[in-house]
Amino acid sequence: MLISDEHPTLRTHDHPLICHKMGILRDVATPPPTFRRVLGEVAGLMTYEALRDLPTRPATVTTPITECETRELAAPVTIVPILRAGLGMTDGILRLVPEARVGHIGVQRDESTKRPVEYYEKLPRDIADGPVLVVDPMLATGGSATFAISDLKRRGCTQIRFLCLVAAPEGVKVVHEDHPDVVIHAAALDERLNEHAFIVPGLGDAGDRIFGTL
Ligand code: PRP
Repeated sequence: MLISDEHPTLRTHDHPLICHKMGILRDVATPPPTFRRVLGEVAGLMTYEALRDLPTRPATVTTPITECETRELAAPVTIVPILRAGLGMTDGILRLVPEARVGHIGVQRDESTKRPVEYYEKLPRDIADGPVLVVDPMLATGGSATFAISDLKRRGCTQIRFLCLVAAPEGVKVVHEDHPDVVIHAAALDERLNEHAFIVPGLGDAGDRIFGTL
């Protein structure tokens, strides 16, 4: 994982498997079935590192031979995909953390104002008791991410991380300024936003590519 001086809360996941799979996702010729599968694989690989510091507590299990001291996750993890595109990452993460609960926040970017608009929310009542992993493939202006994180903080969440595939420097800056306590995990830090607030070079509209709504 890379840590940059310019973006102190950003962790860029440069594992060779992640880099290779990001090439497949960026390729305009990659069709939705492949895009969906690879997106889930990258999300899973990133989760392995992003949850490295999860708190654990001692536990005892009985092996076929005898009792054994082990460790288990200390608190329930909640994955919060930002709808719609965040859904594409959820299965890949659940494969690694099947015990996790899944809360949903529906935020859509108003393409005229570029501002986030909330349209749905369903979260576990005790979400604040454990770590929360907010997921969305794209961090563009940062509006959707910072909106969702603020919402979770109002509900008392204190252990929030954000996981995306492609981040624009502009979005990283916004999330860092609004939420300096939240670590941002990205597979790639791209160059910039264009005049339509799309990430360059990016991978296009992840939601449309996942769900075939191009
Ligand atoms: C995209 C993307 C993020 C958001 C990023 O979603 O999936 O949620 O835009 O942009 P921002 O950082 O400027 O807020 P979109 O609004 O296209 O909705 P969708 O997931 O339903 O496709």
